[in-house]
Amino acid sequence: MTHSNGHANPNGGPDLAALRQAYEEAGQGHVFTFWDKLTPAEQGPFAAELASIDVKRVNRIYRNAMAAEAPAADLTGLAPPLVGKDISRSPSPTPEEAGPLPASAVASSDSPDAARWRDVGLRAIADGTVAVLLLAGGQGSRLGSPNPKGMYDLGLPSSKSLFAYQAGRIRKLQALAAQHAGKDDKDVRLRWYVMTSGPTRAVTEAYFAEMDYFGLDSNDVVFFEQGVLPALSNDGKLLLAAPGKVFTAPDGNGGLYAALRRPVNANTDMTVLSDLHARGIKYIHAYCVDNCLVKVADPVFVGYCIERDAQCGAKVVRKTVPTESVGVIAKRGEAYGVIEYSELPTAKAEQRDDKGDLAFWAANIANHFYTTAFLDTVEAMERKMAFHIARKKIPHVDIASGQQLSPAEPNGMKLEMFIFDVFPFVPALSVLEVSRAEEFSGLKNAPGSKSDSPETSRRDLLAQQRRWLLAAGATFADGVEVEVTPEASYGGEGLEYVAGKHFVRSGAISGPDDVAALV
Ligand code: UTP
Repeated sequence: MTHSNGHANPNGGPDLAALRQAYEEAGQGHVFTFWDKLTPAEQGPFAAELASIDVKRVNRIYRNAMAAEAPAADLTGLAPPLVGKDISRSPSPTPEEAGPLPASAVASSDSPDAARWRDVGLRAIADGTVAVLLLAGGQGSRLGSPNPKGMYDLGLPSSKSLFAYQAGRIRKLQALAAQHAGKDDKDVRLRWYVMTSGPTRAVTEAYFAEMDYFGLDSNDVVFFEQGVLPALSNDGKLLLAAPGKVFTAPDGNGGLYAALRRPVNANTDMTVLSDLHARGIKYIHAYCVDNCLVKVADPVFVGYCIERDAQCGAKVVRKTVPTESVGVIAKRGEAYGVIEYSELPTAKAEQRDDKGDLAFWAANIANHFYTTAFLDTVEAMERKMAFHIARKKIPHVDIASGQQLSPAEPNGMKLEMFIFDVFPFVPALSVLEVSRAEEFSGLKNAPGSKSDSPETSRRDLLAQQRRWLLAAGATFADGVEVEVTPEASYGGEGLEYVAGKHFVRSGAISGPDDVAALV
């Protein structure tokens, strides 16, 4: 594996002199202050850590983040050498200047065109040009489960976890696409890229192995890991967590883009991007682990974006009330961008259109389409993009005294990118409105919470499946809950065999053989 600074020496470790020089040139030479006091056993890992950090990129991220935060005139206050000529702002105007998403930018999954989009999407899947990308690097602190969110058991009759549901949908979709194209099931493969993070990787990989990849071919599942960035002091200096350790923090779910360019593990040079190219995959559906209703690789959405020749697309649902805490996609200058709930001025949140609907209605659900060609270009965008600054109390080693400090006030910053930060750079984002009841129910909060809890996820998933069964001609005795697992149906199709059946017992059906026990 190559180091990001490219400073290797013939003994295998990084070239120390070159590394020191790179940090000094970047104004970050202080990280070597305690070098001579470290034991050789400490120096090795520290040198490897320093070599893995692209210090010029860190400086650039700091400059851009500060430039986006400060009025232009304040930039002169930044200490050299961190002020460069290439300070550039995101092209996105402020939330106050934003306008509603124009109707012309949006289509609906209810449209009569949806059947055609579905055909296009299924064909692309059958041709092997579509992959799935899962964001599963979050720690789910609000949910409070010790395991990664994808392992969460919602208490469904089948006891399937969120990961199991998503895998099942992938398998089912492979079969549907094969059938659609007249191919053999085994000849249609959807590659599944699973983004984890330091805290979630090992346990996620072990769980997939334990579950035998939920019946998928393990070769089609690629784990990779989002990155971390050094935390910085308020004047842009790297902070040391220990004399031989940089303080780092996860780089946000937008860390996805940089992670696509890094080797997926320490034993290979393969990156997600190189793999996409090697396999001729042109289209990617990306989604969050915590939406139990997610239509993984939704052929309607994929087909819609392909037909529009979109580089990047986003699904939205209608915001319910002005105070709902969701970000909305809005017009920001020539492009579209997400305005976070906390940034949307109240007057805009409450603004209504001629029909009395919310003007800023398009709630972003982090459910995206990309072309591989677009993902290739994100690195160039990142140079112009501003990371978000989160000011924090960061425990660190004081460079002058060598003392470990635990500040009482924020003394520095963590830098994060959000997955939607690329939108303002997309010439024509393709937005598809979908039904919330059919496609979005987030798992965010602990059991017993009023919204976005395990109970609401379970309720929304079973309610959808009940609608499918009713539409197929089934009826239910009072209080009976029947789960339709992804083995039985991807999106409500293929349930003709329940016509005329009256369910009197709760349980799960994965195919026609399971019906008799429940009627
Ligand atoms: P959230 O922002 O809701 O975070 O993630 P979370 O970790 O799930 O929950 P809290 O905030 O700690 O309670 C939305 C999606 O983005 C992914 C999550 O896994 C989830 O799919 N994510 C979040 C990452 O992949 N990496 C991150 O650093 C953060």
